[in-house]
Amino acid sequence: MGDQPIRFTDGAGYDRYMGVWSRLAGEEFLDWLAPPPGLRWLDVGCGNGAFTELIARRCAPRELHGIDPSEAQLAFARRQPLLAAAQLRTGDAMDLPYAADAFDAAVMPLVIFFVPEPARGVAEMARVVAPGGWVAAYAWDMEGGGFPYQSLRDGLDAIGVSTPLPPSPEASRPEALRELWTAAGLTDIETLTISVEHSFADFEGFWAILQAAPSAGQALATMGEAERTSFQKLLRARLEPPGGGAITLQGRANAIRGRVPSRSSPAGGGPGGG
Ligand SMILES: C[S@@+](CC[C@H](N)C(=O)[O-])C[C@H]1O[C@@H](n2cnc3c(N)ncnc32)[C@H](O)[C@@H]1O
Repeated sequence: MGDQPIRFTDGAGYDRYMGVWSRLAGEEFLDWLAPPPGLRWLDVGCGNGAFTELIARRCAPRELHGIDPSEAQLAFARRQPLLAAAQLRTGDAMDLPYAADAFDAAVMPLVIFFVPEPARGVAEMARVVAPGGWVAAYAWDMEGGGFPYQSLRDGLDAIGVSTPLPPSPEASRPEALRELWTAAGLTDIETLTISVEHSFADFEGFWAILQAAPSAGQALATMGEAERTSFQKLLRARLEPPGGGAITLQGRANAIRGRVPSRSSPAGGGPGGG
């Protein structure tokens, strides 16, 4: 189980499981970026559009593009009224099908650890953003304990069930992000830690949402009845407050932004503002 790649096959289930978290972190990320209106945006690994919708709602984009390898995620995104004018297509962060300088801002929300060669993904974002524009990302600090569902992973570990990790979990450490942005030739690099908290009304609702987890959902689905019941009990004991009630989890993401320098000189300046 631990060696299986993580697959995104259910856009609606993803929305309940992770979309809610992406939006929480994404609001803070956009407060920090403070982009001017009228930019040409690219959302790399846009998934089911959880963050793309925030761009549409908050940033008055001149153009809004999203790309993701998962058709199931894109199908959900295409049904969202806020994304009616967005151009969403299938593709890979490491080989973006766009011309150089086509955008003013490229973002990677909760994606960099899924990219097998993160340096290629960041270089591609730097290529398709025009000089002066932003290349930015936020991602759970997987190796620093920032993944909001770490308690689920730990619980499964405790009963000997390993769940798959994304291919590049180390890429979301703050120092790794800085190295990636620097190596891509980006300037004005800044980082931010984003801490978020979310409460699920009760354990039953929380448990139902976990069934759609792209990573652990398959492990839960293949458990026998007895193992499932005993794992449910273990997780409840770890997470439910005494007497029952809401399940509250915390997540911590690292965010980074940098500007594309002018192609002839290392200094930036241009449409990104701020
Ligand atoms: C955790 S989800 C994030 C989705 C969305 N950005 C959000 O904030 O909710 C990770 C997404 O990365 C996509 N993904 C995985 N490998 C990718 C790659 N090589 N290039 C681009 N996207 C990728 C997955 O299909 C999935 O939709």
